[in-house]
Parts: sequence; C-alpha cells; structure tokens
Amino acid sequence: MIGAAKDGIAISITGLGCKVPDRVVTNDDLKQYVDTTDEWIRERTGIRERRMASRDEALSDIALPASRDALEQAGVEGKDIDLLIVATVTPDMSFPSTGAILADKLGAVDAAAYDLSAGCTGFMYALAQAYGMLAGGLAKRALVVGGDLLSRILDWEDRSTLVLFGDGAGAVVIEAVPERGFLGFELGADGAGGASLWLPGSGSRIFDEPERFVKMNGREVFKFATRILVQSAQNVMERCGVTIDDIDVYVPHQANMRIIDHATRKLGVPSEKVVINVDRYGNTSSGSIPLALADAAQDGRLKPGKLVLMTGMGAGLTWGSALIRWTKEMTPA
Ligand code: ACO
Repeated sequence: MIGAAKDGIAISITGLGCKVPDRVVTNDDLKQYVDTTDEWIRERTGIRERRMASRDEALSDIALPASRDALEQAGVEGKDIDLLIVATVTPDMSFPSTGAILADKLGAVDAAAYDLSAGCTGFMYALAQAYGMLAGGLAKRALVVGGDLLSRILDWEDRSTLVLFGDGAGAVVIEAVPERGFLGFELGADGAGGASLWLPGSGSRIFDEPERFVKMNGREVFKFATRILVQSAQNVMERCGVTIDDIDVYVPHQANMRIIDHATRKLGVPSEKVVINVDRYGNTSSGSIPLALADAAQDGRLKPGKLVLMTGMGAGLTWGSALIRWTKEMTPA
C-alpha cells in the first residue's frame, strides 16, 4: 500500500511523549542467564544496555505516562481524543485491549480504542491508520501509542534473542493543522516470511502446550531488514517526489546497529541525520520509532519545517514508512 497526502489534507503530530522502565539491564547482567559477552553483543548489534519492566508493570503502566506527556505537549486532554490506537504485540492481555484500558485511565470517554498488531512495524501501521481515519473525517484527534514489553515473551535461555530486545513506549497526538505535516505512507506485509520471526503459542493455532517465547531465524530477518529498510524508504520518497538529500532527520526501526548502518549507507544519509537509541534501549519493537522521535525532539533536531523519514520493519514480516514535514516544536520530558 502506498499513498501521498491529497491537496487540502494537512494532518500532523502535535504532541509527543515517551517512557521506558527505570530498570537498566546491561550486557554483563545478561551473562548470568546465557553464555554471551558484552563484546559480542556490542559488535553484532550495537546494544550496550536495555530497559526492562519490573514484575508489577504492564504495558499500560509504561504507555500511560508517555500518553499523558503527548497530550500535554499537544495542549489537549483525554476527553478531546476520539481515536486511540495502541500498536503492540505485548498488550496487558488479549482483552480488554490496552487501548481501552488507556482510554479509561486518560478519560478518553469519546474515543474508539483498540490494539493493532503488526510486529515491530505496528507504530507505522497505526500512524497510517489514524491518518486515514482523520483524513476520511471519521475522527478529529487521535492518540497513537507504540510500545512493547518484549522482556515478557523472551526465552531467558536463548542467547540469540534475549540480548536483542528491551521495553519501552512512545505516544503521539495527531490532528489537523494549518500546513501539511504527513506527506505519504508506504506499508507492506509478506506472510510467507512470517516463520522467520514468530511467537507460536500466542493464539488459536498452538494452545495445548503453549510455546510462549519469541523464535527467530536471525540471519533471515537480517537479510529481510537490510533490503526492506532501503526499499520502503525509496518507495515512499519516490511517491512523494522527494529525494534523500531533502531528508533532514532519518528515524529507522532500532533493531540492530549493523542493519541501521547498512540502510544509512545504501540510502546515502549522512550519519548526523540518523537518530539512534538501540545502544541504550535495544529493540523496543513498536516503541522504537516514537522513542527515537522523542530523542530527536529533545536534542533539537525536530524543528518545524524539517523533513522526517521513518521506516519500521518486523514480524509478519511487515514494513512501513512515513514522510512527515515536522510542524511544531516539542520538548518531551
Ligand atoms: N552471545 C554470544 N554468541 C552468540 C550470541 C550471543 N548473544 N548469539 C548467537 N551467538 C553465536 C551463535 O551461536 C553463532 O555461533 P556458532 O558460529 O558457533 O554457531 C555465532 O554467534 C554467530 O551467530 P550468527 O547468528 O551467525 O550471528 P550474526 O552475525 O548473524 O548476528 C544477530 C546475529 C545479531 C541476531 C543478527 O542475525 C541479527 O541482528 N538479525 C536480525 C535480528 C532482528 O533485527 N530481529 C528483530 C527485527 S524485527 C522486530 O523488531 C521484532
């Protein structure tokens, strides 16, 4: 699916918030669970540490402060939101949705609220969906949350996955603005590649002896990721009539530093335009892009007028890119 914003449709991000759990888990900390080293993890992934939720924290507990901050930045309250989408593969539970739980806690009494599952690409899918509902007149103001507590679904005896992931969430408010923000989206899925990254005992297929941990063919996902980050970005830029030289800020999914380096080189993006948080947070799945946006806002790179390219990829296998002309200065906490 690919599309560019139509004339007269001006929708943008007006609020941005993020939250990671307080508990820091270093590479050395993981040595008590699996046979690994700090050196191996840094070299192969670029990750130094990640955040992990405590036993009594669920996704909604992490997403709530991120959402409150996004609402505050936008200058609105929960009651002003009429669409709330939470992109996640680790909701508090299958139902009620984390979207409904958050809507209640935020006082978003008029919001349609639900969860969306597209692996680590979830935030990009949710952004596009919210944009489409606003552009189509179904909603006026959306809260889009991307977040995961992947530590809950990791096999703590599998070194090939345990070291890669972390927990965190980000949230954005999107609504109509005077000048065009979102310029276009490209989303895709390839179910044939799904078995490269899967959570077998999480639904109706396997339920006798739930296999409740992530399984991954790292090399296949690596090959997919290096190809799709480049291709999806090129597709959306071409559709919107911009080139890589026009891009001011590049926000790729934070899976692995080697994957990001490859995409950056192939696309020809100078390193100072690339936002990185994988070193501090690991792969936070749907949280990765909104957390990186918050970093870029904090360090002053997201000024009004800047052209921002975001590309996600993940389980499904799925991918998604968005181009947005940043329209508002924000300083998330
Ligand atoms: N510590 C030490 N050694 C390890 C570890 C570890 N944590 N994990 C694997 N190894 C070993 C392997 O057993 C293997 O040993 P062997 O040669 O004796 O068999 C060796 O290291 C090399 O393993 P490879 O799998 O070939 O290592 P590779 O360079 O491919 O790196 C990695 C592995 C980091 C997982 C890489 O394939 C990768 O990043 N893939 C993409 C992962 C990803 O992005 N997943 C999520 C994306 S989508 C989403 O966000 C949900």
